[in-house]
Amino acid sequence: MKKVVAIIILIQSFTCFSQVNVIPQPQQVTMKEGAFDLSKLQGKTILLDSGQIGIHRTFIRSGSSGKYVLNLLKARNIELGNEGYRLRVSTDSIIIEANTDTGIQNGKITLDQIITSNNGNPIPCCDITDFPTYSYRAMHLDVCRHFFSKEFIKSYIDQLAYFKINTFHWHLTDDQGWRIEIKKYPKLTETGAWRIEKDSSRYGGFYTQDEIKEIVAYAKERFITIIPEIEMPGHSSAALAAYPYLGCTGRALTVPSTWGIKNDIYAPTDTVFKFFEDVMDEICALFPGRYIHIGGDEAPKAQWKSSPIAQSVIKKNDLRNEEELQHYFMHRVEKYLNSKGKLAIGWGEVVKGGLSDSMLVMSWMSKEAGSKAARHGNDVIMAPRGYCYFDYPQEGDPIKAIWMLPLPLKKVYSFDPKPKGLTASAANHILGGEATLWTEYVKTVQEAQHQLFPRVTALAEALWTKPGKKNYNDFQRRLQLLTSHTGH
Ligand code: ACM
Repeated sequence: MKKVVAIIILIQSFTCFSQVNVIPQPQQVTMKEGAFDLSKLQGKTILLDSGQIGIHRTFIRSGSSGKYVLNLLKARNIELGNEGYRLRVSTDSIIIEANTDTGIQNGKITLDQIITSNNGNPIPCCDITDFPTYSYRAMHLDVCRHFFSKEFIKSYIDQLAYFKINTFHWHLTDDQGWRIEIKKYPKLTETGAWRIEKDSSRYGGFYTQDEIKEIVAYAKERFITIIPEIEMPGHSSAALAAYPYLGCTGRALTVPSTWGIKNDIYAPTDTVFKFFEDVMDEICALFPGRYIHIGGDEAPKAQWKSSPIAQSVIKKNDLRNEEELQHYFMHRVEKYLNSKGKLAIGWGEVVKGGLSDSMLVMSWMSKEAGSKAARHGNDVIMAPRGYCYFDYPQEGDPIKAIWMLPLPLKKVYSFDPKPKGLTASAANHILGGEATLWTEYVKTVQEAQHQLFPRVTALAEALWTKPGKKNYNDFQRRLQLLTSHTGH
């Protein structure tokens, strides 16, 4: 009887010691004999610059463990690609090898998670080779329905970075608020950033261009690209409240304080296209990434149907209907962005009225619009609401709006951006996936955190780790270990 117990203890301590606990799960992990004792090396650190091929010594700090020696090796290793890394822990050294600074950073995050989840114990020797399955791994945040401070945006970025999410999609304009300073059109924020709530209080806020620059720089240091979203042609009430001449009716509007799809829509006039060129000049100067999101979802066509100006644009350009007018509208803005070296992204509805060859499609209702776009040869991001809408309730939470469905952690974990039935060449256009955090019912930082965690960790693993290496039970075990030591 005693013997059996001893064996179980041995196995338990062996498994405890012979695992590394990382989210997302690395592609290849080989455990080795022995462990690296961090405490022996405290203080013995030399800091050199990194950035060139060669060996560098530096140190990073881990909350519980202080300083430790780290060899950073810039290499040319095809398998690792732009974001991959190799991390080797032996009894007397830790080496991170990568082709790029991003790869080095990803290796450091993995090491940090191993140390954190190990709670100060020696790190088990291992050899990890790791790289992402998908190059686009994003989290979105709607700051229009409710506004979130610069400090929260930074902490959001930190949290994404910790799970190797590499893109932050910032939803900056919508009916209920325009949240980014545009110097040429000051009323967008003087008027469009503020609304009167049911209880008569004034609600709102916006980011100045200086604040935007600060956040973009903050994200860059963490290897996160920001994609700003400027909505058109619908979801535009806040802009039209600021400048009614941009609308179809010209009528005075107030910034709405209720949710749902609004009828007001930009007019397809030269004045409006000039407005967007001016806005995009400022947006492109602020955001260095390749992509600018230009919306395109839920644009009701009633005002275009009854507007003589809209109808004359349809006639003049030989368009068949208002869906084609939306394509014409968005394609004009897209071409302007292309002329500035940028690429446009549109929500799934953009496949309806004719799809330009270069528009990247973000498929949200399901994977259908994305599949259609991929077959057409367009790049695609999958964000199907059944798996990726983090405004929907977590397990056990109440459903707050009729459009919501329950979205438990396990369902997010099962997300695979690749739809079935695509040819290999169409499937290559699926760049990755994204989860959204719409904020109609998310008012506070605490509520935002609650919607985000732990689902963002499941998203991260679904996009990084090869489907065949995913294991939900093991993910839950790692999640428990990591969260118990990081305070999430
Ligand atoms: C969306 O959820 N309307 C993109």
